[in-house]
Amino acid sequence: MSELKNIDWSHLAFDYVKTDYNVRCAFDGSKWGDIQVSDSEYINLHMAASCLQYGQEIFEGQKAFRGKDGKVRLFRIEENCKRIQDSARGLMMEPIETEKFIEMAEKVIKLNARFIPPYGSGSSLYLRPLEIGVTPRVGVRSATDYLMLIFATPVGNYFAQGFTTCKVVIYREYDRAAPCGTGRWKVGGNYAGGLRATERAKQHGYSAALFLDPKEKKYLDECGPANFFIIEGDRYITPKSNSILPSITNMSLQQIAKDMGLKVECRPVPVEELAQADEAAECGTAAVATPISEVYDYDNDIHYVISKDGKPGPVVTELYHRLQAIQKGEAPDVHGWMREI
Ligand code: PLP
Ligand code: COI
Repeated sequence: MSELKNIDWSHLAFDYVKTDYNVRCAFDGSKWGDIQVSDSEYINLHMAASCLQYGQEIFEGQKAFRGKDGKVRLFRIEENCKRIQDSARGLMMEPIETEKFIEMAEKVIKLNARFIPPYGSGSSLYLRPLEIGVTPRVGVRSATDYLMLIFATPVGNYFAQGFTTCKVVIYREYDRAAPCGTGRWKVGGNYAGGLRATERAKQHGYSAALFLDPKEKKYLDECGPANFFIIEGDRYITPKSNSILPSITNMSLQQIAKDMGLKVECRPVPVEELAQADEAAECGTAAVATPISEVYDYDNDIHYVISKDGKPGPVVTELYHRLQAIQKGEAPDVHGWMREI
């Protein structure tokens, strides 16, 4: 059992912390079985499993929050469920049943209740659902048998500095996904494909690489671990592309932007449009809404300075606070996004 007394809830990294239990469910070629509770951090896997040979692995990420009233609420898990079902179809895997997935998510939170960070700590309980193909395969074929697993781990900010601005960089020599490839699904391999760009960006002091559309390299796509948006006047503008992951956070921020009276545009965004951006941010479950002060176009040696004083702009700040207020139960859940656990 992990020791709670060693956890500094207000200074958690976005990293793995051992919790008490994970939940698992197997598909045996014809049906999903019962939900199993495990206290093991390991999976017993055939060495020829299709996930190890041919990358049949998909995952999700979602957070549960302890609210101001002490209640625990999980954010938009139905959307994660839809997305992992879509990812499964994209990789010729077996989509999990909706009720089963949600039951697993609720169960893993309840079983690890002592790891849910306290209200006010700025941390949350992160759920990491993953599905893998487990059938032994040497020929390239999809598996018949699958394992769905959800583990939970308490996390703090993805970007260690918290709600301050960061810089991102565009390198044209790397893509994270192909034009008609797997970018729109949450596939482990996409992240491996993006690692070279991400590591290089980090070595040079950027928080992430900002990828361009892989077909024409004219339009902005998304960051390694998050979607991207800009604010121009009263417009919230976010890239539309076949190779980016449809972000649940972005979808929610778009709704909040509309609630704030902003216009929302989802369309191809040319790189040069960065010159007109009043604000920019990367957004995702882990990143929430992290303001961007500068985008560096490495190949053209252009610095798009978005925040001259290096501070978060007012619109991104308000979007961030409004989203967090809903998640922490400080503001009414007018859109029905939260599930009480
Ligand atoms: N884009 C990528 C590549 C991601 O990994 C993530 C994180 O999940 C996102 C976008 C944001 O998606 P969401 O807001 O659903 O977490
Ligand atoms: C998330 O935001 O949940 C993600 O999956 C991003 C991640 C790669 C840390």
